[in-house]
Amino acid sequence: MTTQTTQTTQTTHKVTLTINGQPYTAEVEPRLLLVHFIREVAGLTGTHIGCDTTSCGACTVLVNGVPAKSCTLLAVQVDGAEIRTVEGLEQDGKLHPVQDGFVQEHGLQCGFCTPGMMLTAVALLERNPQPTEDEIRRAISGNLCRCTGYVNIVKSIQYAAKQMREAQATPAPAPVGAEV
Ligand code: FES
Ligand code: FES
Repeated sequence: MTTQTTQTTQTTHKVTLTINGQPYTAEVEPRLLLVHFIREVAGLTGTHIGCDTTSCGACTVLVNGVPAKSCTLLAVQVDGAEIRTVEGLEQDGKLHPVQDGFVQEHGLQCGFCTPGMMLTAVALLERNPQPTEDEIRRAISGNLCRCTGYVNIVKSIQYAAKQMREAQATPAPAPVGAEV
């Protein structure tokens, strides 16, 4: 009688991602999805998993500034990338205009789709400061919302677009003590 032994060799790869400006390095299996790197390695659980099949957009993050469904990318594929998640939107205790828009215009109900929806909106407004309603609807067409009917999401993004345009048009105040 012969005895068979099965040996499993687990290869890991060293991956470094900069998430919201902070570097994270880990030895990961090649099959590890980006969304799991973000949630489990970096501990940033604001990025949601809704379907795992590239359908819902709940897992959307920005990869080098471009919206991407993080359940569809392997962490090893984006080694060295700059990732932005919902946790990186607020700066110095101030909500990003897109976050503010979702509050002001009631752009969420259960909130499950919201982080992905907001990242998609941020990318849209960074490349198109004055989108039409059609352009907004097209931009968020990969992000599903089961609660809102989208009307208030569109309004939230329009609100944010206006805030961002006004902020651009207003010169920054001179630092205290500076000569004017
Ligand atoms: S969890 Fe990634 S698209 Fe749904
Ligand atoms: S607010 Fe519930 S899924 Fe969009």
